[in-house]
Amino acid sequence: METQNETAPILTLRNLNMRYGEKKALTDINMDILPRSITAFIGPSGCGKSSLLRCFNRMNDLIENALVTGEILFDGQLNINDAKIDVTQLRRKIGMVFQKPNPFPKSIYENIAYGIRVAAKSTKSEIDDRVEDALKKVGLWKEVADRLKDAGTRLSGGQAQRLCIARTIATRPEIILMDEPTSALDPLSTQTVEELTLELKENYTVVIVTHNMQQAARISDNTAFFLHGELIEYSPTKLMFTRPNNKRTEDYITGRFG
Ligand SMILES: Nc1ncnc2c1ncn2[C@@H]1O[C@H](COP(=O)(O)OP(=O)(O)OP(=O)(O)O)[C@@H](O)[C@H]1O
Ligand SMILES: [Mg+2]
Repeated sequence: METQNETAPILTLRNLNMRYGEKKALTDINMDILPRSITAFIGPSGCGKSSLLRCFNRMNDLIENALVTGEILFDGQLNINDAKIDVTQLRRKIGMVFQKPNPFPKSIYENIAYGIRVAAKSTKSEIDDRVEDALKKVGLWKEVADRLKDAGTRLSGGQAQRLCIARTIATRPEIILMDEPTSALDPLSTQTVEELTLELKENYTVVIVTHNMQQAARISDNTAFFLHGELIEYSPTKLMFTRPNNKRTEDYITGRFG
């Protein structure tokens, strides 16, 4: 399914299917994800949003009975499903932020420095600069500059989620996957993360799963609606929330089920 934008897609899904053992989770997904934009995945619980997100950086490899078939082209070339690709390298390009903020049980500084160090040989001052830069980008620098040695786990929920986003952007990915990143946050922290996400799209491609229709409407450029593992509708967000093409989309976004 194509959106109206002419930009070349950063991800192209062709006949993507996925199952857990005998249980089908995704059926024939075809879609393009556009670069430097925010794409929202919506749909009722169990419709396959997280499963699809995990296909993008091969996180399903970690689930024993998960089987993915079909193609996901990255920049029109590399097939993410190719058995031969370097998965560690891929995950550096396609980072992920989870529902529950999950800082490492290390210092705030080390939470960010770790990935930078693993990615490339860097000097202490280079790392210091990039840690500061990442914390500034997520609006956390002022809050934590004088306590970088404190444990990341001692931050508030909203701060911890922003630390996790900082950790993700510090390794300079191209795509950031977010699976319900604000569902564990209070309204103010949610607003901060939403504003941050909007800023991120200047440099990154964001794919965000959300159960919050207002959130999808507020921040995303395109929205994909899933039901029972199928992509029902994929449209520019403004269009989807004003004139959905499909009756089932309309029922879902108007709160008739889900
Ligand atoms: N590890 C697993 N093993 C077996 N089945 C799974 C596994 N993970 C998910 N599923 C099943 O796959 C389907 C899709 O699940 P998924 O987690 O992708 O849905 P979701 O849209 O993210 O739901 P939610 O909104 O509740 O997070 C569901 O039927 C779920 O039970
Ligand atoms: Mg999910």
